[in-house]
Amino acid sequence: MTTFVHQNLDVSAASVVASGAALYPAVDRVSAASTIALHPNTSPATDAQRAAIMENPGFGKYFTDNVVRAVWTKEAGWHDRELIAASASAGGLGINALHYGQSIFEGLKAYRHADGGVFTFRPEANALRFQRSAHRLALPPVPTDLFIGAIEALVRQDEVWVPTDEEQSLYLRPLEFGSEGALGVRPSMHVTFVLMASPVGAYFPQGVKPVSVWLSDDYVRAAPGGTGEAKCAGNYASSLIAQAEATNNGCDQVVWIDAIERKYIEEMGGMNMYFVYGEGANARLVTPKLTGTLLPGVTRDSILTLARDLGYQVEEGTITVDQWRAGSESGEISETFACGTAAVITPVGRVDSKNSGSWNIADGGSGEITMKLRKALVDIQTGKTADTHNWLHRIL
Ligand SMILES: Cc1ncc(COP(=O)(O)O)c(C=O)c1O
Repeated sequence: MTTFVHQNLDVSAASVVASGAALYPAVDRVSAASTIALHPNTSPATDAQRAAIMENPGFGKYFTDNVVRAVWTKEAGWHDRELIAASASAGGLGINALHYGQSIFEGLKAYRHADGGVFTFRPEANALRFQRSAHRLALPPVPTDLFIGAIEALVRQDEVWVPTDEEQSLYLRPLEFGSEGALGVRPSMHVTFVLMASPVGAYFPQGVKPVSVWLSDDYVRAAPGGTGEAKCAGNYASSLIAQAEATNNGCDQVVWIDAIERKYIEEMGGMNMYFVYGEGANARLVTPKLTGTLLPGVTRDSILTLARDLGYQVEEGTITVDQWRAGSESGEISETFACGTAAVITPVGRVDSKNSGSWNIADGGSGEITMKLRKALVDIQTGKTADTHNWLHRIL
């Protein structure tokens, strides 16, 4: 039983599995940058320093000049909403987040369109997931207006960091953590929200390439009742050893299997998965259903809609390791891909494992439907095609 509930918590939105309603419902646009006090960095990077970084930004290596930060306490709720220099620090070594992992985060991107405008993609969905993650970690939810307002304020302030190359973008990293300096094991009574931003390059600078995956037989990512559907720091800490095992076995990524029966495919590294049965107009797409142990990806959710727009059948269902192998070998499964904010859509080309054998995906992973969906999604994000679902949020 939950004995500690923060103020303003909308418990109806707490669990994806229990909610039953649309995962990320359509929303009215929220705009609240004006509630953020602006105290920007007085010595930002010079034009030359920034240009050198933007030449080859990589992923998450460099940060922009500023962050937005807000603080929560029981007495005052969310306050001290301000944009400050990124170098300002947020607490000492005693903070709860470092010792007990009371820490959650989000990831989304701002894209510059050809007309110079800057947009984010479904930021309200990330705000909602952040609130659900907060509930699971006994943190106070960051209100949607603070979440969106922080994004608007930071992207406007640090606009020079939004790349103009269409393959690049500004990655936005909202972070919330227990920042009380106290070693008692209980929810932190001082909580910090920070939004930081990092210019990022093309995920596949040499063009999209199929990845090879390692099935994790020894390590489990999430169990029922655990934190699998929350985007919390601990999930990533516990996944690192399995990712290292994948790398040691010559694979790019790890694929997680369910904790109880040890046979259902759940997700891949930091991405959700789709399996394509059949080919052409009759293709049917299946993505593992959200059981509470998978992270409910915004990209996954968007593909459910886009695939239907393109005329494919789409299902949220189950697929076992044996079905994946047999279907790939017989050609019944024509394509497999993974999806997430960082790499958008990534074809899977080969599977390897300790206990379940190795196999190739039917066409080596250069799937036609995979690439069609990728283009449909990227074209919306980058403004090349009409945003018929009202997914883009204009910032500039
Ligand atoms: C474990 C995990 N699964 C799936 C995803 C994909 O989610 P999204 O599409 O919202 O980026 C992510 C990335 O956030 C993740 O970390």
